[in-house]
Amino acid sequence: MAQQLFAIYARAANGVIGKDGQLPWHIPADLKRFKALTMGKPMLMGRKTFESFPKPLPGRRHIVLTRDTDWNADGAEVVHSIGEALEVAGEGDVAVIGGAEIYALFMPLCSRVELTDVHRAYEGDTHMDALSDEEWAVTGREDFPAEGDQPPYSYVTLTRRSAA
Ligand SMILES: NC(=O)c1ccc[n+]([C@@H]2O[C@H](COP(=O)([O-])OP(=O)(O)OC[C@H]3O[C@@H](n4cnc5c(N)ncnc54)[C@H](OP(=O)(O)O)[C@@H]3O)[C@@H](O)[C@H]2O)c1
Repeated sequence: MAQQLFAIYARAANGVIGKDGQLPWHIPADLKRFKALTMGKPMLMGRKTFESFPKPLPGRRHIVLTRDTDWNADGAEVVHSIGEALEVAGEGDVAVIGGAEIYALFMPLCSRVELTDVHRAYEGDTHMDALSDEEWAVTGREDFPAEGDQPPYSYVTLTRRSAA
């Protein structure tokens, strides 16, 4: 079985994905979707994203990139390079779960993106560029309206054109 990387993230209309080490919005259905799409799979993440969780997420391996050779934490498999992360992750589906620094490193290796397109602008300190139509084809889309304080959003699956 080959190794297949996919990225999963939620991005606001102005490109924001994080603020003060957290998500800027609270969309419970999106957290459930994240759980469903990552359950049982190894997850690659940056040290800052790992530290944004109150505790490790059940049922998934946490492969954490850091440059700090002294860093460790309960529930984290610590790695220090892209190559080491890929080796430790092994075969099959591997979820790249952020944040921005880690998406920048691994996006070129991802064949699929599971995007939650949040249709509202947020203040934040961590951003992602939009994906280009030339590189990515939309292969799935579900739209949800605003509800109470929650913004409208869409789940969008994108597949790398060269991998289609
Ligand atoms: N909206 C979403 O879907 C989503 C998803 C994930 C995260 N987020 C948000 O994004 C923010 C965090 O993102 P971020 O970009 O600031 O941080 P990050 O990508 O989570 O982590 C960055 C850290 O990763 C390590 N790192 C980066 N490049 C490396 C390399 N080449 N080799 C080894 N280690 C490397 C470094 O750790 P050391 O400093 O320890 O060396 C660096 O400080 C938070 O606000 C979080 O809530 C949002």
